[in-house]
Amino acid sequence: MIIPIHVFSKTQVARIREQLDKSDWVDGRVTAGSQASGVKINQQLPERSPLARQLGDAILTALANHPLLISAALPLKIYPPMFNRYRQGETYGHHVDNAIRVVPDAIVRVRTDVSATLFLSEPDEYEGGELTIEGKYGEQTVKLPAGDMILYPSCSLHRVAPITSGVRVSSFFWMQSMVRHNEQREMLFDLDQSIQSLTHLHGHQHDDVMRLTGIYQNMIRLWSDT
Ligand code: NI
Repeated sequence: MIIPIHVFSKTQVARIREQLDKSDWVDGRVTAGSQASGVKINQQLPERSPLARQLGDAILTALANHPLLISAALPLKIYPPMFNRYRQGETYGHHVDNAIRVVPDAIVRVRTDVSATLFLSEPDEYEGGELTIEGKYGEQTVKLPAGDMILYPSCSLHRVAPITSGVRVSSFFWMQSMVRHNEQREMLFDLDQSIQSLTHLHGHQHDDVMRLTGIYQNMIRLWSDT
């Protein structure tokens, strides 16, 4: 399940980019797993830098009460957002993300269930740089407006196409979901979205809406870990 989510306005993106564009970047291979490091050519903001933390917190604040994110990911833990930049000729070849990430300077481990990429460059700022995600029904290629984010299952193979001109800036992070299995999260998401549209039509008090809401909550009870 691949879901786009609107996070930041153009004004907010401009403020973030102003700070990112004047900061120091390092080689992106510092955080890649051994399989991924061979195919990763890009730059990252140092994870422990105050700017990465400050902007990462701004993203987490924007997402804290985001209904679509909560419905789709049911997040339990979120790895602090990181930032990367691809310049001309840079790319991230076909790879799968590490299953477990250890939060820097903490003993906290995050199982990567849901991956997120938040686009901070407009599509017309660069050529190439599409994110391609392999799924059950083939490949999907994504290039979103600045301020929008894509969610995809962390178990999927993915890649970032080489940049042929311009610069692509984004933030990326992982979530451990309360519901470990992708198929179960998908069903819960579809059910929740249907309940929301039925609620809109008939109100919370409608018998069927209440029954379906009960089923949704009981499925969460069966499948979630907290
Ligand atoms: Ni990746």
